[in-house]
Amino acid sequence: MKALNFNKTLPISFFLVIIAIIIYTFITQPKKPTQIDISLLKGNIDNGKKVFLASGCNSCHMSDGSNNKYLLSGGQKFVTNFGTFVAPNISTSREHGIGSWNFSDFYNSIKFGQSPSGKHYFPAYPYNSYQHMHDEDIYDLWTFWKTLPSDETPSQIHDLFFPFNFRRNIGIWKTFFMKDNYFDQKLDRSTYLVEALGHCAECHTPRNYVGSLKKSEWMRGGINPSAKGKIPSIHPSDLKWTKDEIVEYLSSGFTPNYDMVGGKMASVVENISQLSDLDRGLIADYLLRLQ
Ligand code: HEC
Ligand code: HEC
Repeated sequence: MKALNFNKTLPISFFLVIIAIIIYTFITQPKKPTQIDISLLKGNIDNGKKVFLASGCNSCHMSDGSNNKYLLSGGQKFVTNFGTFVAPNISTSREHGIGSWNFSDFYNSIKFGQSPSGKHYFPAYPYNSYQHMHDEDIYDLWTFWKTLPSDETPSQIHDLFFPFNFRRNIGIWKTFFMKDNYFDQKLDRSTYLVEALGHCAECHTPRNYVGSLKKSEWMRGGINPSAKGKIPSIHPSDLKWTKDEIVEYLSSGFTPNYDMVGGKMASVVENISQLSDLDRGLIADYLLRLQ
């Protein structure tokens, strides 16, 4: 009797396992890399620098000890619920950085979170925000990046818990949670500065159990995984700052109470303070119109 059931269930189980493997392989497979026609793109270094500052690549990729904000040697650690990430060297070094990449490699990494060899990047690299970056801006950023110094510090390996250490599994996360829509439907430069470049929500919005941002608590603050205390809410009903006060903070780092910006926000302000007053005003407009 038992043997009969076994004979019946074995082929079914085998069949289900095969189906599961096919679905897993399909969902987690890397995308075909996009080849970008750059013949019409000019590459504006000045704008590239603005994109670099607004998107804060150096906040994560500059080395811990260095004062040079343009030396992208990596090494900063980010403690999360999934383990500790270490920002890699993305300097122009051919051996230890990304100096041997072409523009399409760079583009696919920013837009799709995918490496030149087709591996998924972990979303600790905020490509879920950067995927909205305009092609011209990515090309300008690339043109500016090429002017930056090379550094020969080797990248370190992340220290992640099972099963998050398998890059292939990120394909599941991308399939279900990497959406190319904006939160704010106004789709103007304010939205672009905050959601695509500044990736403010990546820190200021709490996350659910799979690490995705909770839309229902957009910008309402969250736990600070890499330091003590919470990341503050910057939703207008909690922050209660005027436009001038927000612009002042993003320019000088001073809060309305004359406290000085600290923690990870300090490097965000240092970058944003080098943008135009107009752009800082547009960032403030975005925050103030949140419902
Ligand atoms: C919040 C921190 C953070 C910011 C901001 C950030 N990155 Fe990264 N980046 C990472 C982490 C962490 C990784 C490693 C991801 C992985 O191993 O899957 C990474 C990986 C990369 C890689 C892949 C490097 C390689 O060796 O394969 C590139 C390229 C890159 N980042 C470029 C950028 C650029 C350009 C910007 C700005 C537009 C930027 N990053 C902003 C954290 C960040
Ligand atoms: C890397 C994480 C990170 C990113 C990205 C980030 N912030 Fe912050 N932000 C913080 C932290 C941490 C603080 C608390 C600073 C402190 O303790 O002095 C903060 C504080 C602030 C404050 C002051 C809140 C208060 O009550 O004092 C404002 C306003 C703010 N951020 C706006 C922004 C905007 C706008 C962006 C996007 C351009 C942004 N932040 C991106 C981490 C971040």
